Amino acid sequence: MSAARVPLIAGNWKMHKTEAQAEEHIQALLPRVSSLAGVDLALCVPFTDLRAMVDSARGSRVEIYAQNMHAEPEGAFTGEISAPMLAELDVAGVVLGHSERRELFGESDRALAAKVPAALAAGLAPILCVGETEAEREAGDTERKLRHQIGEDLAAVADERLAEVAVAYEPIWAIGTGQVATPEQAQEAIAFVRALVAGRSEAAAGRMRILYGGSVKPENASELLALPDVDGALVGGASLDAESFAAIAAAAPRS
Ligand code: PGA
Repeated sequence: MSAARVPLIAGNWKMHKTEAQAEEHIQALLPRVSSLAGVDLALCVPFTDLRAMVDSARGSRVEIYAQNMHAEPEGAFTGEISAPMLAELDVAGVVLGHSERRELFGESDRALAAKVPAALAAGLAPILCVGETEAEREAGDTERKLRHQIGEDLAAVADERLAEVAVAYEPIWAIGTGQVATPEQAQEAIAFVRALVAGRSEAAAGRMRILYGGSVKPENASELLALPDVDGALVGGASLDAESFAAIAAAAPRS
């Protein structure tokens, strides 16, 4: 973790927590993180929880993110939500290209190439997820996959705005499996992503936050977050419990 980059610990609730459950969670979380300076905290919550969570988190250390959005500002896209709709609720950012959306809902790199700049244009901070499957890793295709995803998904983002995107490297085989990447695997892949960004802009690569995601828990967080290129974590399962999310946040190195 470079001193120039403030770590970001983001909890991805996925399709968990009704509004009442979300409220109970945030009331348990806020006192546990109120004194944590030098780390940015985000909760990526279901659409139906956004308004209540933005209200409850106002003035606290926690920012509220959505988990997806459509690239168009409005239109005939039944069931979709646009960036201006999120921005009007004071949502701070949005997760884009999570592997569950790519694998289960057919989210394409082409769609992401439009979504990332659309989020930035609306004033939302994107967390772009990338990562390889187990088969791709075994075939030695990890770098090819990352090069492809980073190249396509960030193609329409101007160099001057690249550092406003956080990238989450999430090896798909580590998501929800309890099988965390080794520190060497995480550092190597994340340094590779940073080198890809440096190929476009050295300045952006120095400033961009690149997170690790996949079975991050209080027990393994310190080791992962101490890695030189790892600037935070995208936490799924362990973010559903206020105490374990707060413990992960507390494990982030702070300057
Ligand atoms: P996990 O999920 O922490 O439950 O493995 C991570 C993610 O999907 O972002």
